[in-house]
Amino acid sequence: MINQAKLESFLGRAIADLSAGYGGVMVSLGSKLGLYKAMAGVGPISARELAVRAGCAERYVREWLNAQVAGGYVEYHALSETYELSPEQAMVLADEDSPVFLPHAWEVPASMWFDEDKAIEAFRTGKGVAWGDHDGRLYCGVAAFYRNAYRGSLVSEWLPALDGIVDKLDAGITVADVGCGHGHSSILMAQAFPRSQFHGFDVHPASIDEARRNAAEAGVVERVAFDAARASDYPGRNYGLICFFDCLHDMGDPLAAARHAAEVLAPDGTPNTGPAICRRIDNAMVKAVARAFRWREMLVGIEIRRAQL
Ligand SMILES: C[S@@+](CC[C@H](N)C(=O)[O-])C[C@H]1O[C@@H](n2cnc3c(N)ncnc32)[C@H](O)[C@@H]1O
Repeated sequence: MINQAKLESFLGRAIADLSAGYGGVMVSLGSKLGLYKAMAGVGPISARELAVRAGCAERYVREWLNAQVAGGYVEYHALSETYELSPEQAMVLADEDSPVFLPHAWEVPASMWFDEDKAIEAFRTGKGVAWGDHDGRLYCGVAAFYRNAYRGSLVSEWLPALDGIVDKLDAGITVADVGCGHGHSSILMAQAFPRSQFHGFDVHPASIDEARRNAAEAGVVERVAFDAARASDYPGRNYGLICFFDCLHDMGDPLAAARHAAEVLAPDGTPNTGPAICRRIDNAMVKAVARAFRWREMLVGIEIRRAQL
């Protein structure tokens, strides 16, 4: 027997999710076309003015703005027929250096849609899809999204939370950043602790190439090296700190990674499996983040696991 109230409540929920899927494309377009940036800090602006500022066609900009208003991403002033991005909205949508800048995160679900056929095959066969076989938006999106969190908290909050590690880094130790991706965490630590040496390892060669480019751009190549290697057998010993940022759960054999870390960690060294990123967000947000992560784990983690075993 169908309970009409439950049906309507669940349908409303599912339609809201569908609407968010459309909204993600709009956020990505707004970010890539510079529309949010063109609105940030300028107060109420007409569709025509915004189109001129961003170098876009007014007709498209007007529709985009109306979709943004419907989604609560932009305010609308009916009397003046103008649109406004509040400082809070700008922090999330326009400021690339803000720790809560979100548009890059949409690259990750975009990559999952692109790789859907590979996921269907993986479900049917039980085989995997390696990290590097996914659409490039997956690792670019992940790296760009986490970079801002690292910029905001890694040196100022997360490292000081580990007993005595800041003093050791100041004095000079060797650090392994395992599963380093595009290398942002290693680079930030190298900038903050010039006496220490940093070695980033990742199984994905294209990410290592990107990490090397990022290190060269940041001017830290003398203190940061990046190499393609697995978490279970990267070279070196006596690391004073071994970091796993958002990656232990992505590994085919996390136990082997932990075992290797135990072997190559200095006797007084520190393992760091990453911060408790949910500490400051409320329950509704935790649920939303958990949901996104479960999907990512399922479509990415398990696939990698199987591919690398
Ligand atoms: C979600 S990304 C995180 C990257 C980076 N730490 C960051 O926070 O931006 C997970 C990374 O783990 C890497 N990875 C997965 N399995 C690995 C393994 N067995 N050994 C080394 N790296 C691995 C992937 O290639 C990918 O770059």
